[in-house]
Amino acid sequence: MVTVIRSVIRGVGACLPKRVMTNEDISKIVDTTDEWIVERTGIQSRHIAAEGELTSDLGIVACRQALVRAGVDPLDVDLVICATATPDRTFPATAVRIQAGLGITRGAAFDVQAVCSGFVYALTVADGLLRTGQFRRALVVGAETFSRILDWTDRGTCVLFGDGAGAVLLEAQPTHGAREDRGILFTRIRSDGRFEDLLYVDGGPGSTKTTGVLRMNGREVFRHAVQKISGVIEETLVATGYAADEIDLFVPHQANQRILDGIAKKLNVSPGKIVMTLNKHGNTSAASIPLALNQAFEEHRIHEGSLVLMEAMGGGFTWGAVLARW
Ligand code: UT7
Repeated sequence: MVTVIRSVIRGVGACLPKRVMTNEDISKIVDTTDEWIVERTGIQSRHIAAEGELTSDLGIVACRQALVRAGVDPLDVDLVICATATPDRTFPATAVRIQAGLGITRGAAFDVQAVCSGFVYALTVADGLLRTGQFRRALVVGAETFSRILDWTDRGTCVLFGDGAGAVLLEAQPTHGAREDRGILFTRIRSDGRFEDLLYVDGGPGSTKTTGVLRMNGREVFRHAVQKISGVIEETLVATGYAADEIDLFVPHQANQRILDGIAKKLNVSPGKIVMTLNKHGNTSAASIPLALNQAFEEHRIHEGSLVLMEAMGGGFTWGAVLARW
């Protein structure tokens, strides 16, 4: 019998800053209303990091919870990958700070930068490395403090985002490579830099020597998001031979309720199978998928053997999907 190494998700964890900012709160800062935000996006509130609360602080808490739930000691982890577009510092990587915060001194730690698709990218990279046999256990973290790169005078963007972190503990396990065996079954990542100007941050150490703030042409991003996400989901289903109705849970990046409704309609997916956190978290970029996984886990909607499809699209453009049997 052949042995195939699969990256099995053993634990999930999350961290949200204490401070909640409602649409009502935002309407005191910019010219907007709760009605507009809810109707156009589905967002009701978001969490905002406290002064001095860094991306790595959120990531460390999320990782600790994932480790406890997996029953794994931090010292048995040999790979830490952090997906973030809001690193604590330009360097070192936030993943290295998370690694140090957890007391891990072996293996490797690095960041992946694919903005809102970061968690899908990071899972893909971790899966590839675990399957080589070089690493045994990986913490894959999506952690962001987007509140720090928002233009708080731009109502078109500042209402959309929030802060938070989520993490999973992946373990390389030998399997027979069967459909029903646990682990990551398929990953697909894509990018196309021609669309940079539709969603970007207008600063950086190598250009302006400043951090910059987020700029977005929301309407255009919206149009591309529905197309690109539906496309990558269809590719995933074709490549793995699963039908959309065989997926137990869709765990999408949370950018806009209307984008998710559009995709569900296009692919004929029942809304009950889609995990939604957007209303309480807003768009947390690379953190949104692991935060949604965590919510599904805590609501007992995800069990050993569940077929889970994750997808995301973000600045770059970058986009992608991961199919995993929990
Ligand atoms: O995670 C990365 C991927 N990001 C996304 O997927 C985001 C995709 N885009 C979107 O979610 C939506 O395009 C937005 C929620 C950003 C905007 O919704 P929209 O329906 O596309 O609105 P719009 O930008 O076309 O603006 C419509 C109107 C404009 O007014 P006029 O020009 O029609 O008078 C805006 O000025 O709504 C106005 N507007 C607002 N009004 C009240 C824009 N933002 C606000 C606001 N409150 N916060």
